[in-house]
Amino acid sequence: MLQMKKITNELVNWYQQNKRDLPWRHTSDPYAIWISEIMLQQTRVEAVINYYNRFMKEIPTLKDLANIKEDALLKLWEGLGYYSRARNLQKTAKKLLEEGKNTLPNTKDELLKLPGIGLYTAGAILSIAYQIPTVAIDGNVYRVIGRVYEIDAPINKPSTYKIYEAIVEKNLAKDYPSEFTQSFMDLGSRICTPKNPDCQNCPLNQKCLAYKKGTPALYPVKEKKTGKRVEERSVFLFVYQDKLAIQKRKETGLLASLYELPNSLEYDSLIDIENAFLDKQIKYQSIMEVGEAKHVFSHIIWYMKGYLVLLKEPLEDFVWVTKDELVKNYSIPSAFSYYIDYFLTNF
Ligand code: ADE
Repeated sequence: MLQMKKITNELVNWYQQNKRDLPWRHTSDPYAIWISEIMLQQTRVEAVINYYNRFMKEIPTLKDLANIKEDALLKLWEGLGYYSRARNLQKTAKKLLEEGKNTLPNTKDELLKLPGIGLYTAGAILSIAYQIPTVAIDGNVYRVIGRVYEIDAPINKPSTYKIYEAIVEKNLAKDYPSEFTQSFMDLGSRICTPKNPDCQNCPLNQKCLAYKKGTPALYPVKEKKTGKRVEERSVFLFVYQDKLAIQKRKETGLLASLYELPNSLEYDSLIDIENAFLDKQIKYQSIMEVGEAKHVFSHIIWYMKGYLVLLKEPLEDFVWVTKDELVKNYSIPSAFSYYIDYFLTNF
């Protein structure tokens, strides 16, 4: 990565000469950009154009969106599918108006708190509407960057996001944030396509490692489907004084009746965790991320993110054990080894 060649200028120049004329490219109204990005989330550009035009005519402002009857909103959405997108739009509009705002916020943190807005959409709104150079990684970015830099980490592995994010971050176009973000979309749909990419006409071909080796078809790398169910879990090392919290699993199913570390069936962000602790009035000194781990069972794969939580008072409902007690009296399934080792090494 140190000798990475930048592709910023090539992307922006190419985009300026080749961009598609799309209705949401005639505005920088954050509301309009937001609507277009939500519509485009699971839907092709060609299918979105008419819906977008009609939507903006009928519901031109955030206030109109907050006030429109749900039935009328869903009617405008009919045929686009994934109706939760429309409901989230209205939820967000109501929330923002209640907070006294009349358009979308212009920071990543605020955007990420809104229903239906994830990292990609936040980055798209910031760069396209607000002209703030921000990473926005969608499937096109994975394909273009994966090929140009021959990224071998699989894109369906959660930790790979950071690799791509770092590369895009280094390439950001300070003076052309909107063009930079959208250049990937157009390059990805016209030139750097999933099948039969038109490498001869690609502005990046001189810098593209996969092109030089004739391997664009191998990128972006995806971990093969194993037929196993993938679960993403947050795992907690709750520590009070010199003791660790463990709990017994239920008597049926995977790892029945064994002791385990407390965990939840999703990846929580630090903010989610802090909020949950606040709700449950859990008093803690600190929460720290302690890394990711993977465990493959016969029919399930766990991708885990771990958190060390130093508590100010012990929680009920757990068994509290010292290091010695843990080692002598309990056998914790190896799925948790990474985190158990962390505890044994650091306490
Ligand atoms: N896909 C998602 N956002 C887009 C945009 N702004 N232009 C073209 N395609 C897109």
